[in-house]
Amino acid sequence: MLIGAGEIRARVAEMGRQITADYAEGPLRLIAILKGACFFLCDLARAIDRDVSIDFMGISSYGRDTSSSGEVRVTKDLDHEIAGLDVLIVEDIVDTGITLDYLHRILEQRGPRSLRIAALLDKPSRRRKPVRLAYTGFQIPDQFVVGYGLDYGERYRNLADICVLGGQP
Ligand code: IMP
Ligand code: MG
Repeated sequence: MLIGAGEIRARVAEMGRQITADYAEGPLRLIAILKGACFFLCDLARAIDRDVSIDFMGISSYGRDTSSSGEVRVTKDLDHEIAGLDVLIVEDIVDTGITLDYLHRILEQRGPRSLRIAALLDKPSRRRKPVRLAYTGFQIPDQFVVGYGLDYGERYRNLADICVLGGQP
């Protein structure tokens, strides 16, 4: 176990308070990246005391492997436009930064009023593309983690704690 459920809960609540303080009254669109970020989104959304709406974007950059292929593909686009809105991208983990670099660029082109990123986990040691994170839950070392939405080959998303995948050197 790397980060326990209680620690996650406390940090997400803190992030929600900070986001609430940073945004003026008014609508805030949260965009979660499927599927891993859904767990974080559900908890974060309830910790934000603003007029929140949610949408989802499907992006795939990994297969079953634990290292990035470097290729990004949109598998599901947003249901709603974001022009003129305050938008916060909600992501589970930033590793190489390739996914968020790509997503930030395509969403920026749609003319949101503001566009920021909240990531629960940050693995800065493997960064290949610079990504500016407005909100970060935890910085973690270069280990493959599962739980609280994070998977290995679609497994372990339902673990309450964030755990290091076993069998790694
Ligand atoms: P990036 O494009 O390399 O930043 O990869 C980000 C995506 O890779 C995340 O949205 C996750 O889906 C996945 N990912 C990166 N590191 C891990 C990990 O340690 N466990 C599970 N998924 C990971
Ligand atoms: Mg993901």
